[in-house]
Amino acid sequence: MEENFIESYKVKIENRLKMILSPRGRMYDKVLEAGSYSVSNGGKRIRPILLLEFYKICGGEDDCAYNFACALEMIHTYSLIHDDLPSMDNDDFRRGKPSCHKAFGEGLALLAGDGLLTEAFATASKTLSLPFDRVCKGIEILATCAGIDGMVGGQVIDTEYQEETDINNLLYMYELKTGALIRAAATIGATLAGADENLIAAADKYALSTGIAFQLIDDILDATGDFATLGKPIGSDQKNGKKTAVAILGIDKCREMAKEYTNNALAALDEFPGDTENIRNLTKMLLVRNY
Ligand code: IPE
Ligand code: IPE
Ligand code: MG
Ligand code: MG
Ligand code: MG
Repeated sequence: MEENFIESYKVKIENRLKMILSPRGRMYDKVLEAGSYSVSNGGKRIRPILLLEFYKICGGEDDCAYNFACALEMIHTYSLIHDDLPSMDNDDFRRGKPSCHKAFGEGLALLAGDGLLTEAFATASKTLSLPFDRVCKGIEILATCAGIDGMVGGQVIDTEYQEETDINNLLYMYELKTGALIRAAATIGATLAGADENLIAAADKYALSTGIAFQLIDDILDATGDFATLGKPIGSDQKNGKKTAVAILGIDKCREMAKEYTNNALAALDEFPGDTENIRNLTKMLLVRNY
């Protein structure tokens, strides 16, 4: 049942992404080729699915939130392309195939990331069927969560402040580098549906905890996962001397913490009048995922 709901969202998201990133017969189409290479296949699509499901449980109707859902996945994919670059994590595989810079070279990988980020905002702003104020607010959230006070800020802490890492700084970094785009998913979904402030705050509370749990599991998988299943290199954090939660706390404590954050996230869903079963199932699945 729950698998079906994920699959049906995935098919629609992926078709829409393909359309957005289709070649346009221009000299510079190669950047679209590199971008869609990284966007297509292998991604779990957690962020767009959450966005669409929060939109739904807050009373949103029809397919009006799909442009934002795709925009968020494009921004997430850009963050992965740049994260894998030699100047960052220097990882050669992503989503089960060579990383963007391995397939297209560093220059084009940088530009594909830039292109996806920028095109994401063009895509989101083409949401003509929803009220103007909701779309504007959605774009503001997207920009803030993706930018300096969001994912980018978290990546800066990750790359520049490894020496100062203690568990509090680490959780702050997770909140930004991973939590911010998950918060964008939940709060944009609620905002586009016209949810009131209390409900948007509950969506944010859910996403903050989910984001931290998600990164804790990501760190565990980096240490214990299987390359073929995960689709990205194992041991990347150790290779880069990253003091992750696994390095500081050990696997068991890390998993326990992820469980606590997941429970907090589930509790935040109690505030929603809509049917939260799909989100609950997805949230529990994320805790036991192996990719
Ligand atoms: C990986 O995100 C990067 C993190 C923020 C931990 P995902 O685990 O969602 O990657 P895909 O989209 O499924 O490839
Ligand atoms: C993810 O952190 C950060 C991003 C914002 C892309 P990681 O560097 O741990 O993500 P993976 O493990 O490479 O997917
Ligand atoms: Mg990284
Ligand atoms: Mg990485
Ligand atoms: Mg990782």
